Amino acid sequence: MRRGVLIFLVVNLIILSFLVRSVFTLLSLLVEDASADAIHRAELPSPNSSLIEQRPQVIPKIIHQTYKNESIPEVWVDAQRSCIDLHPDYEYILWTNEKARDFIAKEYPWFLDTFDGYKYPIQRADSIRYFVLAHYGGTYIDLDDGCNRRLDPLLAYPAWVRRTAPTGISNDAMGSVPQHPFFLRVIELLQSYDRSWLLPYITVMYSTGPLFLSVLWKEYMLDKPSEADRVRILMQDEYNRYSWSFFTHHVGNSWHGKDAQLIFWMGQHWMFLTFCGFALAGVVGLGSWWIYGRVMNLSSRYRHGYSKVPTIVTPAGLSPTRRARLAVPTLLRRVSFNKEDEETGPTETSYEFYSRND
Ligand SMILES: *[C@@H]1O[C@H](CO)[C@@H](O)[C@H](O)[C@H]1NC(C)=O
Ligand SMILES: *[C@@H]1O[C@H](CO)[C@@H](O)[C@H](O)[C@H]1NC(C)=O
Repeated sequence: MRRGVLIFLVVNLIILSFLVRSVFTLLSLLVEDASADAIHRAELPSPNSSLIEQRPQVIPKIIHQTYKNESIPEVWVDAQRSCIDLHPDYEYILWTNEKARDFIAKEYPWFLDTFDGYKYPIQRADSIRYFVLAHYGGTYIDLDDGCNRRLDPLLAYPAWVRRTAPTGISNDAMGSVPQHPFFLRVIELLQSYDRSWLLPYITVMYSTGPLFLSVLWKEYMLDKPSEADRVRILMQDEYNRYSWSFFTHHVGNSWHGKDAQLIFWMGQHWMFLTFCGFALAGVVGLGSWWIYGRVMNLSSRYRHGYSKVPTIVTPAGLSPTRRARLAVPTLLRRVSFNKEDEETGPTETSYEFYSRND
């Protein structure tokens, strides 16, 4: 029966390591503060500073936005106008559904099936922004974000994204040079992340949205990219909190549903949920050990012709109750023998490795 225990342990270890491996990036995101790549307040010139001119600007002067067609809803018109008005010398491209599909069909035909196959329109809106940044470079801005100051200082970094709460990065404003290795990797891996998860919100987040981008970003950082390939992080304070911040936030995303609220709740209680996860894993582990023991017990009984007493070799002279206790499989059993057991077992409380024999 030793071999049985060994197989049980190995199978459990394999399952456990597989689970840990598959959520490792997610877990490590929880403790990632992005400080290594943060764009610090001190290095960002103030809105009218002469320092802005002195820094080489590598990101092309293009602003990308997406909407299904040319008629932008009233609530976002002011935000859109604020960005266009501040940047008369930038090219402005609004990627409508039609324009986006034509672009993918022409430049990235291998992606067209995935693009057309996305169940939610927001997945197309997410993915097209990665493609146009990888292709043309420039700055992508969500329609619900308005511009508070010119983007010029951010053009000095080969690629930047925005930090988000509670963890990771978001995809609502990003800048990049054309063919930046991070965005090339993002468009390369979109297809393999095109999977359906139970809730629409998770499916969108993890197939094309901020969670997908955060996981790829975390993995990208493990490769220790060179200075030119680094992805810099615009921290929240520099984002839309102060008068010197780059953006103003208008109306929230229109597609958040009930499941989004659930996820936000989970985000706020992730400590508690992590604890529950570990507790659940423990219960499942113990449960499967118990079931394994029962199955072994039954099969040994069966082989010994349904004998009433469990035919398990135990130290002689044990009381029936102790015998019964030993019939429950235990890897490491705390055994304390009574005086009367002295001839057969250790006298002191000790830990023993028991394997059941039959
Ligand atoms: C920067 O300059 C513009 C015009 O050149 C002016 O309207 C704006 O108030 C200035 N901003 C600050 C923060 O000084
Ligand atoms: C854009 O879409 C909206 C809503 O689907 C529709 O009412 C509007 O007519 C469309 N605009 C154009 C220019 O097609």
